[in-house]
Amino acid sequence: MQINEHGYGVGANSYHAAGGLTGITCLVDDFFSNMDAFPESEKIRKMHPQDLTESRKKLAYFLSGWLGGPRLYAEHYGGINIPEVHKHLAIGDAERDAWLLCMQKAIDAQKYQGSFKEYLFAQLKIPAERVKQTCAKKI
Ligand code: HEM
Repeated sequence: MQINEHGYGVGANSYHAAGGLTGITCLVDDFFSNMDAFPESEKIRKMHPQDLTESRKKLAYFLSGWLGGPRLYAEHYGGINIPEVHKHLAIGDAERDAWLLCMQKAIDAQKYQGSFKEYLFAQLKIPAERVKQTCAKKI
């Protein structure tokens, strides 16, 4: 995570700005609700299992550590390389943009500081782009 003038990339500041695990769980729930509802994300929704219980848990646990909080994904599932875990999927510009749309609208729906909303979305664009680059060969 990059550090900005609000100190969001420092220590657990981003984790706390996101409301800890409760706040992150809300964000992830809204993210997957958007994925279920938006026509733009129909294709990426179909890449996921029908039951999103485990997908929700994995993303929330990953974001906890990524935002400087407890490294729950590592504790429960081991190490993870985000581009690597997606490389079997057909993710191009449209799929990356659909993922980011679901995330942007989910972030907008949270009671976060405006500065944190902007920071978080800008930070998420970085791994989303790397995922697309890793998958681009198959599109
Ligand atoms: C670029 C667009 C992206 C698409 C279309 C996408 C799609 C997917 C799909 C289909 C899965 C498999 C779900 C399952 O089988 O349970 C998955 C897993 C996952 N994704 Fe993404 N993803 C994207 C970007 C990201 C980004 C940017 C992050 C992190 C910031 C992320 C975090 C994860 C995590 C933590 C998992 C679970 C990995 C595992 O343990 O199996 N994804 N994603």
